[in-house]
Amino acid sequence: MLSVRSALRLKAVPRLSRAVSAWANVPAGPPDAILGITENFKADTSPKKINLGVGAYRDNNGKPYVLPSVQKAEEILFKEKADKEYLPITGLASFDKLATELAYGENSAPIKENRLAVSQSLSGTGALRIGMEFLNEFWPNKTIYVPTPTWGNHGAIAKRAGLKLEKYRYFDPKTVGLNFEAVKEDLKNAPEGSIILLHACAHNPTGVDPTQEQWKELSDLVKEKKHFPFFDMAYQGFASGDVERDAFAPRYFVEQGHQILLCQSFAKNLGLYGERVGTVSVVTASPEEKARVDSQLKILIRPMYSNPPVHGARLVSTILSNPELKAEWLGEVKGMADRIIDMREKLYNKLVELNTPGEWGHIKSQIGMFSFTGLTPEQVDALAQKAHIYLTRDGRISMAGLNDSNVEYFAESMSKAVKGEL
Ligand code: LMR
Repeated sequence: MLSVRSALRLKAVPRLSRAVSAWANVPAGPPDAILGITENFKADTSPKKINLGVGAYRDNNGKPYVLPSVQKAEEILFKEKADKEYLPITGLASFDKLATELAYGENSAPIKENRLAVSQSLSGTGALRIGMEFLNEFWPNKTIYVPTPTWGNHGAIAKRAGLKLEKYRYFDPKTVGLNFEAVKEDLKNAPEGSIILLHACAHNPTGVDPTQEQWKELSDLVKEKKHFPFFDMAYQGFASGDVERDAFAPRYFVEQGHQILLCQSFAKNLGLYGERVGTVSVVTASPEEKARVDSQLKILIRPMYSNPPVHGARLVSTILSNPELKAEWLGEVKGMADRIIDMREKLYNKLVELNTPGEWGHIKSQIGMFSFTGLTPEQVDALAQKAHIYLTRDGRISMAGLNDSNVEYFAESMSKAVKGEL
């Protein structure tokens, strides 16, 4: 029972009236251009539905694919009964070493000479954020140039990291290929010392990469202009099926003496999407400089998330340190790349068979996870509304979402969309 006094006191306390909520002025933001598509796809109840939005590999039955090498590594780890202690701020040391050897090559000079600063990251996005924050703090020119088009998240990460965003021309819609002259012109005209974001391989969203000769020219140009080469490598192995070949560009730049920054992701090539595992690395001039850069990476990371999750790094480390498992994994990467190439062939053939107006050779020549179809935003909307097929509004399709059971339906629907018959 309350005393009379406390009852009076309770009564005297003003009741929190919520006539106006604390968040009344928070505006609704737009859905994410890529991940928002998955939400629409999930809400669609049609059995015909296809998700070609997010770049996530699916097997020929349209199912997520846990690589057999990863399953074996899981079993090894389960038996080891490893603890769940915190990792150091820059992650699992064995993982950092093996992952960067995969990216740069085991005999890469910065690795051999102990002058590669590296930290485990929350996959590619986390690497980009740490890398850009690092440059914002320590690189004099705060402007980053990204290709047009580029992955939908690059600009947002750059802005959040405090960099000024600029664009360089990259894709030519007329030739559906690389506009190399425009790339060179724009990089030449960029103020000296600009940060240049380069997709190491399997450019997202276009699937159009420079040739090795063109990379060499770009290396010279970047050097001449004292630009800073910032590599995003999310698809090593996915472009050609060969992890060595796909690492050509960053390795060549390093050989030419560039002090690159590299963002590496194991989401796609090891199918470790939800494990969020990758690296960010910075080529420095000496072990002493590396130690200073390492210390700054730690200072950046600690207030963001303290230290990275352990499981994905252990999986990668287990696979890359075991020659048999590594060989098995390399075969699986090739298998994924080959299935995508097979789908390109099938889609192309069907579009041609259906007399779809236009030239579709780019479906076969583009590489990696995506094809930049040339579909207009209106055609994309029609595909979602009339055919239950979901893709980003820029016309990008994730080839990995196609399989033997749905490629014909997709080609027929796409053909109708192009003909205005949907
Ligand atoms: C994509 O481009 O679909 C992937 O990189 C996934 C993502 O996070 O956007």
